[in-house]
Amino acid sequence: MSTTHAIPVICIDGPTASGKGTVAHKVADKLGFHYLDSGALYRLTALSAIRRDTPLTDEHALAKLAEHLPAHFAGGEILLANENVTQLIRAEEVGNMASKIAALPTVRQALFALQLGFRKPPGLVADGRDMGTVIFPHAQLKVFLTASVAARAQRRYKQLIDKGFSANMEDLLSDLQARDDRDTNRAIAPLVPAEGAHRLDTSNMTADEAIEQVLKWYAAVK
Ligand code: DC
Repeated sequence: MSTTHAIPVICIDGPTASGKGTVAHKVADKLGFHYLDSGALYRLTALSAIRRDTPLTDEHALAKLAEHLPAHFAGGEILLANENVTQLIRAEEVGNMASKIAALPTVRQALFALQLGFRKPPGLVADGRDMGTVIFPHAQLKVFLTASVAARAQRRYKQLIDKGFSANMEDLLSDLQARDDRDTNRAIAPLVPAEGAHRLDTSNMTADEAIEQVLKWYAAVK
């Protein structure tokens, strides 16, 4: 393959807790492709900002943090410098901050090149909000994964409890709605289905069924 554009990309975008992480990760495994969890980059930037007390108003400092993010992805683990923060970045506080800084154009710009760099042979599965609309608009396959707010809150509740965090269903529902609103209504790279994206509502589907569907769509276009 001579050019980056020839390396296949599958984009899986969707709202918080829609199951896109699980689906994207497994699809990448099955195809032997690389995997980009773009939300983790926003979460890592958020974690760095929280630790340094960098306020949301200091867009320049936040963009600098994103630009020089010492992020490493190794065997499913996420490192910030040498610290394993795989679980820590899943905390609601970090997710909420990530959603807020993700609305800042300079932060998105700072993470742009980093994300393109994940496109390596034999292929990439990328999950996020703007994979198909902004980062990889010429991807071979685009999927927009959704699920009802109730189904997503249930999943997030289970994820948090399984990871040893405490969780409250009412708070989760309102956090989820606030984050959906922010991600969908922001001026830059809002969460919208990309042109030509296949839509998949996973409210009543198992992860395996969703994975199978994505693999079928990919088999039809590759
Ligand atoms: O997918 P996630 O919940 O880990 O993402 C955390 C936040 O990061 C999410 O609320 C919005 C933001 N995000 C984004 O704006 N663009 C992406 N491609 C991925 C995540």
